[in-house]
Amino acid sequence: MTRRKGIILAGGSGTRLYPITQGVSKQLLPVYDKPMIYYPLTALMLAGLREIAVITTPQDRDQFQRTLGDGSQWGLDLTYIEQPSPDGLAQAYLLAEDFLDGAASAMVLGDNIFFGHGLPDLLAEAGAQDTGGTVFGYHVADPERYGVVDFDLAGNARAIIEKPEVPPSSYAVTGLYFLDGTAPDRARKVQPSPRGELEITSLLESYLLDGTLTVKRMGRGYAWLDTGTHGSLLDAGNFVRTLTERQGQQVGSPDEVAFQMGWLSAEQLTERARRFSKNSYGAYLLALAEGRT
Ligand code: DAU
Repeated sequence: MTRRKGIILAGGSGTRLYPITQGVSKQLLPVYDKPMIYYPLTALMLAGLREIAVITTPQDRDQFQRTLGDGSQWGLDLTYIEQPSPDGLAQAYLLAEDFLDGAASAMVLGDNIFFGHGLPDLLAEAGAQDTGGTVFGYHVADPERYGVVDFDLAGNARAIIEKPEVPPSSYAVTGLYFLDGTAPDRARKVQPSPRGELEITSLLESYLLDGTLTVKRMGRGYAWLDTGTHGSLLDAGNFVRTLTERQGQQVGSPDEVAFQMGWLSAEQLTERARRFSKNSYGAYLLALAEGRT
């Protein structure tokens, strides 16, 4: 079987964050000291994925390429794909079909931030499953804003409902989807919803109906942060700042993760650190490379 590939969906119009996102893509906005997309990117890296497609709007593509390059600085192979209009999350699998070339995938939304002890293990477990799909349910205070899991009495997922007026549970489906190689074929069969989008929940329903969707609960020890409103964007930044300053360790650093994964040597990390020699990020990378942390 071909290796699982990654997709970061970073298109969309970002209208909820206007006027900030009138001139810049939402997923490039800062979350404390890094561009937002660094966080979902590192989640895919922690899952062991190195071949990753970044889906952007045509107008924002250059900025993403300037920010992330071809990925080789982190031992990655990044491909850029344009989404002409925001026609829904499931469309990503149609746009990425050639890139995937039959491989299984993990797709993350470019505005989703995950943090927690044991995250690499959780991701590895999902990634190890060759057939079917895995998504994560996370307890939130406002499930009606998300895709929500409907559990049967035995605790198994029987449906996922997009933004229900009356949520069947408090478990939102996070924006991280591990799906097998049949996802593009299934996405082709998805009909647009009343709001005109190819909904991810419809694609997940196809797996649910086959009995091949695993809904794993992501427990309260994890943080799944929202950046959908001005307030939650600031909260996410403050969360990252609090952790970074308290621990003296970075959150969402592709350089650090690449080094940990063995994709960058100490020499290569030192070279990277030189680029940031004027700030504390550079000093941090240098300390890592020299084993001083
Ligand atoms: O964050 C998790 C939630 O993401 C899930 O619980 C929902 O089931 C799922 O539909 C989605 O809900 P949102 O309301 O957050 O979707 P939104 O339209 O805001 O899009 C999420 C991100 O994907 C956003 O950063 C923009 C990007 N996007 C969206 C669409 C519709 C694209 O790149 N292309 C698109 O066509």
